Amino acid sequence: MPMANIQGSLPAPRYTCGTVAPRTPLDAAAVRRDFPILRRDVRGRPLVYLDNAATTQKPQRVIDRLVRYYSDENANVHRGVHLLSAEATDACDAARERVRQFLNAADAREIVWVRGTTEAINLVAETWGRARVGAGDEIVVSEMEHHSNILPWQALCEEKGARLRVVPVTDTGELRLDACTELLGSRTRLVAVPHVSNALGTINPVEELVRLAHERSIPVLLDGAQAVAHMPVDLQAIGCDFYAFSAHKVFGPTGIGVLYARASLLDEMRPYQRGGGTIRSVSFEETLYADAPGRFEAGTPHIAGIVGLAAAIEYLTDLGIAQVAAYEQELLAAATAALSEVPGLRLIGTAPHKAGILSFAIDDIHPHDVGTILDRSGVAIRAGHHCCQPLMARFGVPATARASLACYNTREDVQALAAALRTVRTVFA
Ligand code: ALA
Repeated sequence: MPMANIQGSLPAPRYTCGTVAPRTPLDAAAVRRDFPILRRDVRGRPLVYLDNAATTQKPQRVIDRLVRYYSDENANVHRGVHLLSAEATDACDAARERVRQFLNAADAREIVWVRGTTEAINLVAETWGRARVGAGDEIVVSEMEHHSNILPWQALCEEKGARLRVVPVTDTGELRLDACTELLGSRTRLVAVPHVSNALGTINPVEELVRLAHERSIPVLLDGAQAVAHMPVDLQAIGCDFYAFSAHKVFGPTGIGVLYARASLLDEMRPYQRGGGTIRSVSFEETLYADAPGRFEAGTPHIAGIVGLAAAIEYLTDLGIAQVAAYEQELLAAATAALSEVPGLRLIGTAPHKAGILSFAIDDIHPHDVGTILDRSGVAIRAGHHCCQPLMARFGVPATARASLACYNTREDVQALAAALRTVRTVFA
């Protein structure tokens, strides 16, 4: 039965998504030239890359930075006495400060290097969660969660005798804030939701969610994997307690990501893994651990990944994140209009505030078939459950086809997608 989109009498949510039109529009044609992979053909056709929610392509500046690191700078960090080690340490420190600025976190100590969003959430569950969640407590997630923001909490609940509570989503794919408010109670220990849904594109009203939770002294974790490359993210304005993202979804390398955690929470958290870099002193009787962030960064870090992420953030900052957000909103509107004219196509996720993610079904054709047919035209999209099986169940589908935009996509890409989609039904006619 369709659910009404009721937001109750709550104040209108605010969205940290760069809705102010920037003075200089983004020149997407120029942006494209920065990404060498976009010059290649696929199956004899120019590549139309629309799988950006899975991973983004890399600009030449990031590729060059990785090559330069390994060609000229490679050394281990942790302040070795030789020059290369000092330089590598400085580069990682500078990258941490770069990330702090990018997210407007209050302190670089709040930026912890992890492998990616998934590891960030697991770290919080294993350290803060295991210390803070007990029998009878509750953790609030939503129906639109990626599995990475379900499984660590589900396992923690099983271990502790706690309960997972789930905020439902409306038919358009918005969080039911009224239901969320009702779920927040004296046993709620954490609210953990996405900033942007990877399967629907919904931009959640995170500032409003944080306000609702903080009124009840409940901390909030945001999965920012689908947000940081597409809109300004100001952590002090949002006010959340934990925020996670992966470098490879923001034009950086794979294998590196960021956990932001409020300093007061990091200070009370035990190490996640233990080893070199995490300690102040060690004896066989006792180990004293370092302060954050070192306490959470065991072993040699992914140094190339860290400097590559810094290069990616500098690139995005030079483009202008507000310009990127405004451009992607225009492209999303064009793509939504183009897809709505494809016979038999049904969009799943039609919230008024969306990032450039278009999930859809065409008649009863399996999304994998849709993806395979599009691939023949050089159009790369993703098909599947997008690690969101509960969300797929909510919408009564096993999977969707998903096109996801980035700042190097153009109206020509959108036209190529729509044209390729028109051929899908003919294959099954
Ligand atoms: N989480 C990534 C996606 O949604 C892989 O595609």
